Amino acid sequence: MPIFTLICQERLISSERSRISSLLSTFMNQNMQYPLTEKIGEPALFVGREKEFNSFNKWLANIPKRLSKSRVIIARRKSGKTAFVQRIFNQLWSENGAVIPFYFEFGENKMWYPNLAIKYYRIFASQYIAFLTRTPKLIKHPLSLEQIREFGVSEAITPLIDDVEFLIQNKEVGGSHDLMWDLACSAPHRFADLYDQRFLVILDEFQYITYYIYRNENCEGKPDDTLAGSYHSLSESKLAPMLVTGSYANWLLKIMSKYFEAGRLKHIRFSPYLTKDEGLQAVYQYAQFYEEPITNDTALQINELCMADPFFISCVILSEYEEKDLTSSEGVINTVNYEISVETAEMCQNWATYIELTVARVNNLNAKQILLYLSKHNDRYFTPQKLKDELHLDLETNEIYQQLVILKEADLIQQGISDIQFRGLQDGTLNLVLRNRFEEEIKTVAPNFKKEFAEEIAKLTHKNRQ
Ligand SMILES: Nc1ncnc2c1ncn2[C@@H]1O[C@H](COP(=O)(O)OP(=O)(O)O)[C@@H](O)[C@H]1O
Ligand SMILES: [Mg+2]
Repeated sequence: MPIFTLICQERLISSERSRISSLLSTFMNQNMQYPLTEKIGEPALFVGREKEFNSFNKWLANIPKRLSKSRVIIARRKSGKTAFVQRIFNQLWSENGAVIPFYFEFGENKMWYPNLAIKYYRIFASQYIAFLTRTPKLIKHPLSLEQIREFGVSEAITPLIDDVEFLIQNKEVGGSHDLMWDLACSAPHRFADLYDQRFLVILDEFQYITYYIYRNENCEGKPDDTLAGSYHSLSESKLAPMLVTGSYANWLLKIMSKYFEAGRLKHIRFSPYLTKDEGLQAVYQYAQFYEEPITNDTALQINELCMADPFFISCVILSEYEEKDLTSSEGVINTVNYEISVETAEMCQNWATYIELTVARVNNLNAKQILLYLSKHNDRYFTPQKLKDELHLDLETNEIYQQLVILKEADLIQQGISDIQFRGLQDGTLNLVLRNRFEEEIKTVAPNFKKEFAEEIAKLTHKNRQ
């Protein structure tokens, strides 16, 4: 009997065993392997997310029993989504249980439709074969179509041979590209069904599928914005449930409401912020790995000013600020201030792209003023009329409403339960970034972050002494 069939049977019996091993491996980090190179870099830098792992581990344990519904994580850029889902991939790999992980990231580069189908299939098949044969290098370096076919021949896996031949023939003869894509994206579900296996299909930054894929070979004209629809029924698969992420809430929600029926993807809350304790752990971890001197007091201060935002923390510890000194309060304040307000700082640069993309659509002063005001008073909801009164805006209420809708669509503010209520995002980092960007332009005075940071640190010191 070919090894492949044996492996499949072995896996079936092992579903219960895998549940136990899943629990065990959570406690036995030393057994973790990292065939998927994580974007975070050194794996030990990853901290926390305990609550999220608890919830996800239960969900993963139910996949073999076909009880797990597809999930979606929507959280703004740099909130730790990739770090989290890549860790789930490596966790499943290390457990070597009944759930085979597949990770695919939709990139921010233009691509011709059939090339996407081939890329997707190659990565899927390589990760699948890697898992079955325990060959980590195939995760790092996917097999070519020909190599996949060879594997199919040697292990007598006819569907692999058929799929590859279909992809090669159709690309060469310019045949039906729709069918190529259909074959690629349905592969995890089809294989799961044929061999009674289970997959987890992780699709990172899913919204880009509607923006960067072209039907035109030279990627000219308009992108095909309908591709997300291919997942319409696949998202319901209990054999190969999906774990989707997206950084642009409105964009992704629109895609979901257009192409997936309500409730097909269960929306999971995911905060960009770690808990206070996890944040502190991140400070120590980054400082240790990057050999950056800190003290117990400044560790607390960094965590406080960065609001336990792991990306913010990493930017401060790795900051290029020339006079960086993270062993004194003043040094911490200056470095945090540098990261938030100097254009070339890592933190600022990363946010600049996000802000450019979203705020470009909001390029009038009134809208910026509204945005800033809502961000500052993010504990209250506002109607257009209330904003008009409080900000003395020289606009009709319906014009204010239109600006509010644009801001909402750009994920910069939230809409309340009633249609005319709006509120700023309760996202401390984003609010700091926005204030840095607009406060001077609107109020003609630049924000004095250093003073505010010093006050926060004084409060923290006072609290710790009590
Ligand atoms: N749990 C975590 N522990 C430590 N650092 C983290 C964690 N989550 C995120 N980070 C830091 O934040 C950065 C951005 O995270 P990432 O997962 O790429 O965000 P997203 O995918 O949401 O844009 C990471 O490169 C890492 O430096
Ligand atoms: Mg990401």
